[in-house]
Amino acid sequence: MLVKSSRDGFFHPASSDITSAGVYHRRRELLRLMAGGAAGAALATWASREAHASQAPRPGKLAALPARASALPGASTVEKLTDYKDASGYNNFYEFGVDKADPARYAQALPTSPWSISVEGLVRKPGTFALEDLLKLAPMEERIYRMRCVEGWSMVIPWVGYSLSELIRKVEPLGSAKYVEFVTLADRKSMPGLSSSVLDWPYLEGLRLDEAQHPLTLLTFGMYGEVLPKQNGAPLRLVVPWKYGFKSGKSVVKIRFVEKQPATSWVVAAPQEYGFYSNVNPMVDHPRWSQAGERRIGEDGLFGKKRKTLMFNGYEAQVGQLYAGMDLRKFW
Ligand code: MTE
Repeated sequence: MLVKSSRDGFFHPASSDITSAGVYHRRRELLRLMAGGAAGAALATWASREAHASQAPRPGKLAALPARASALPGASTVEKLTDYKDASGYNNFYEFGVDKADPARYAQALPTSPWSISVEGLVRKPGTFALEDLLKLAPMEERIYRMRCVEGWSMVIPWVGYSLSELIRKVEPLGSAKYVEFVTLADRKSMPGLSSSVLDWPYLEGLRLDEAQHPLTLLTFGMYGEVLPKQNGAPLRLVVPWKYGFKSGKSVVKIRFVEKQPATSWVVAAPQEYGFYSNVNPMVDHPRWSQAGERRIGEDGLFGKKRKTLMFNGYEAQVGQLYAGMDLRKFW
């Protein structure tokens, strides 16, 4: 994000406009059944299928990660899914380089097994959790979230995971824990980007405890019905849909519960440009560009009209209360 040219935020690879076939066909089927007067039966079929099956067509590249459709309010936008090719080919993962194509090219060397995360700090039950155990900790859900990058582009991605609050509950935070810090992998052997001083490594992110406990905050293991591609943060990452994408750390290795607001990587690198909260807010511009609009990768062309960015990325009904009484121009 620091390496700026006006190109950086808005250039994207020639994208296909291919509709997500699974969603399209199921919607068509529902409409057809309803037109035939079988609305009740159609809805029952729809609901039961949605409860068990992934909406996204599986790309069939990586191991399947089955999930039930999430029933959480706000967790399943019906917007058109971003094509898997774009979601896994146009990435920010600076540990592998700053070009959007670098993560897909270089992250394949990332060793993701064995993997564990350590949970430390102000909790009653600290410990190390092996990936295998984390995968079984709570039922996997598919959540279709909008993802808005601070650079001005967005995607709609069917993630697979469960609320981070499930893990937080297990480790029992102490009353003194006010923030949660996420430390991601910094492995010089597999991550060529670490030789660059664009950020202090490891990549560090953080949330207020109540933000981390919000059910929309997703501990994410997969996307499009499969385990995460390495360039998207395998084997596990965070997805916080109402905040700019950089708040969602990839390839997390440590979670620390702390009393003071953590010094997160982007705030340390450029405090005048990036705030700790970084809630998506069309009314608060980045010092060098507007945040009022965005381009949906694969849909909104480079020279076309941008779509409007929504307050809290469209999740205001779910998360607005977290910030009641706060001046969001001050706490940006
Ligand atoms: N996590 C790590 N460890 N390193 C990064 O460079 N980039 C962030 C975030 N998480 C980043 C990271 C940014 S700027 C964005 S927009 C999202 O990851 C992009 O996620 P995606 O590539 O899966 O769309």
